[in-house]
Amino acid sequence: MSSLRGRVVSAAYSHMARPVLFRLDPERAHHVSLHAAQVAGSHALSRRALAAAMAPVPGGESAVELWGLCFPNRLGLAAGMDKNGVAVPAWEALGFGHVEVGTVTSIPQPGNPQPRLVRLPHSGALINRMGFNNEGASALARQLRHHRTAGGVGIPIGVSLGKSKATDVEHATEDYLASLAVVRDVADYIAVNVSSPNTAGLRSLQDAAPLRELLTSLVAAASGTPVLLKLAPDLSDAATDEALQVATDAGVVGIIASNTTLSRTPIHARDAAAAAQGGGLSGAPLTVRSRKIVARIVRTTDFPVIGVGGVMQVRDAQALLDVGASLVQVYTGLVYGGPALVRGIRAL
Ligand code: FNR
Repeated sequence: MSSLRGRVVSAAYSHMARPVLFRLDPERAHHVSLHAAQVAGSHALSRRALAAAMAPVPGGESAVELWGLCFPNRLGLAAGMDKNGVAVPAWEALGFGHVEVGTVTSIPQPGNPQPRLVRLPHSGALINRMGFNNEGASALARQLRHHRTAGGVGIPIGVSLGKSKATDVEHATEDYLASLAVVRDVADYIAVNVSSPNTAGLRSLQDAAPLRELLTSLVAAASGTPVLLKLAPDLSDAATDEALQVATDAGVVGIIASNTTLSRTPIHARDAAAAAQGGGLSGAPLTVRSRKIVARIVRTTDFPVIGVGGVMQVRDAQALLDVGASLVQVYTGLVYGGPALVRGIRAL
């Protein structure tokens, strides 16, 4: 019965929802999907129906304790899908064991001019140069407070923080601290995003000196809320090791690996024109790369790692867990595979 249900969910997405969504401009498709999730998540009845339709085989989930938090399964929604946290109850009903909302900035901002999201369908990939379009940390805090009081949220919520475009990179720490001050009480963990490629100078915060200042200040101000660091897949091994050492010294408790890449391999020849666009590449081209990075972090540090990047199939999530990831997250896999992917991975 339950594998039949899985096949129905999978077929409904692949043959009905995805063809319709993929006829729309990618950002429009994103807004349509997010709005549908927001509506479904805002009514107890539709939430219950969604949760029942997506229920795993009985006993098919194993909970994980990490950083004093209880994750009902190992799958999370990656940052960027729900920047303003509008659909958290729907993600929980769909079966995600945690959600990372954001990235938010202390100052609300529109992001880069559109178009800024591109599909590479033959490669199972996306390129985005969104530029942290978001309503700001205060609006997110209000939204999460609303979810927590109306209906309640039973899964951990991570809040991803980035630097406002209007703030110079030299003043980045104050900017992150301003966001932290307003989200600290509603976040189960904080993800420090210094790895998005679409904000000028942001990735320079992965260098040892600015990273030390940023992480030390954030850990102190977080007053016990777990602080995690999200890294780019484009760092050299030496730079990754250095960032990990800084994170250890600063009291960071976990690593999220990794963000989108500036590289353009491997890409299917039929996606060559789309691949020439600027921005960060996500999806299938990252599968092997993210696995190698996770394996390296697990081998060289004691950090629990959230593995993210190129999880397109259940077996990709399993491979990340096999190399030692404690949790996994998806974004692009959800766009291409739909809810059936969630159903498969949460049972790992
Ligand atoms: C992202 N990602 C992202 N990451 C982050 O830390 N903050 C963000 O705001 C965003 N925004 C964002 C927008 C879009 C459109 C995409 C496709 C991705 C990166 C994301 O969280 C993830 O790290 C990568 O996409 C790799 O995972 P997938 O997509 O291959 O599963």
